[in-house]
Amino acid sequence: MRMDSTSVMSYHFARPLTGKTFAMSSHGDPIPMISRKCGPLKGEAQVPGDKSISHRSLILGAMTVGETKVTGLLEGQDVLDTAKAMQAFGAKIEKQGGTWHIHGVGVGGFMEPENVIDCGNSGTGVRLIMGAMATCPITATFTGDASLNKRPMARVTDPLALFGARSYGRQGGRLPMTIVGAADPTPVSYTTPVPSAQVKSAVLLAGLNAPGETVVTEREATRDHSERMLAGFGAEIETRVTDEGRVITLQGRPEFTPQTIAVPRDPSSAAFPVCAALITEGSDVVVPNIGLNPTRAGLFTTLRDMGADLTYENEREEGGEPAADLRARFSPDLKGIEVPADRAASMIDEYPILSVVAAFAEGKTHMPGVKELRVKESDRIDAMARGLRAAGVRVDEGDDWWTVHGLGHGNVPGGATCESFLDHRIAMSFLILGMATNAPMSVDDGGPIATSFPIFEPLMNGLGAQVERQEA
Ligand code: S3P
Repeated sequence: MRMDSTSVMSYHFARPLTGKTFAMSSHGDPIPMISRKCGPLKGEAQVPGDKSISHRSLILGAMTVGETKVTGLLEGQDVLDTAKAMQAFGAKIEKQGGTWHIHGVGVGGFMEPENVIDCGNSGTGVRLIMGAMATCPITATFTGDASLNKRPMARVTDPLALFGARSYGRQGGRLPMTIVGAADPTPVSYTTPVPSAQVKSAVLLAGLNAPGETVVTEREATRDHSERMLAGFGAEIETRVTDEGRVITLQGRPEFTPQTIAVPRDPSSAAFPVCAALITEGSDVVVPNIGLNPTRAGLFTTLRDMGADLTYENEREEGGEPAADLRARFSPDLKGIEVPADRAASMIDEYPILSVVAAFAEGKTHMPGVKELRVKESDRIDAMARGLRAAGVRVDEGDDWWTVHGLGHGNVPGGATCESFLDHRIAMSFLILGMATNAPMSVDDGGPIATSFPIFEPLMNGLGAQVERQEA
């Protein structure tokens, strides 16, 4: 199948971000936060731009000669760190009004950075950038915060070695790590050993500066933003669905054309106000303009399977993809379910908040096939299991599965302080939990929320939540 080369580029989500952006930092002092029982939540939740598409807009813009313009960019710390990194590799990036202007250096044109590249908390940032520079004749050293420096990088450096890039990191393939890019790269054919859009994307970005055909095969479909956006910038890229999985073929050394990109709103951020509305009495919240790309929308299907009052309004096509306004209403009769393992990749970032909803459902919610959760910003099964147990909810877990024993609406005790482990989605999930538990829930550090959803606190409070910072 030839991808529609205009797909992502013609998204039109022109509305500005609302709410005040708080200067929470994932690198600064911890910001303890508390959330109390509230309700009803009412109104419209204008969530920020999609994190995955924002990173890719900056990286692909930096690899394109000419001016790429981006509106709706997520201005979270993760994406800002990627913008800084692209400047260090030679791109000129500035913001005027609501538009980001990127003057790129072209495929293969990255300059050698003068300093260490600090990707902060962002696995997506560091892995995609490593891929993009691995076939340039330059050397770069990468680091991150305490969370990122624990995460596995061999999943990316193994395929990059096939192009001819060398990497020197800490034991277990951890950051800080230096990559020596291949001066004379060869294209590769690679099957991803784990379901990971970051790995797939790193290989495709490396393949851009390798002459000839780079082929990536993935057994399970992961988010396909890279494929769509590469096609949009002018790469020849084709995805075939075969018995072995999705086979993506990219022709190296494309002529990229600068793009005008309107970043759609992030379904992974939409998940928080949606789930908050489902568990708080009397709520009725609309989250407008959310893309329902099937590689991202697994949570919403799962919530509907659980009996959530979640409807899609104004269903339409935006840039060749389904999109809708999500309307979530209080759902007192949620049922625990078996979440299909083959849905995991399409909702991988949403399991923490799903486990919160599961606590208010009747019966067990079993979530198999989720080993990848153990190597995210935190071990998300462990982090959520600890906090849910502290809040009075039974959780069983294995290496690649977990089960939440729901207590039903009104029956979740709460009253605990949870660790967020430098993980934005863990912090937000526990603050949403506290909106419907009998006693308030606290997190030790809400600072990481700024990586993906800097307006979380004012947005949720604007709907009627009671989320506050506490004295450290
Ligand atoms: C992302 C891919 C996913 C996801 C992350 C964003 C991306 O990671 O968890 O938040 O933008 O490619 P994996 O590729 O590790 O599954």
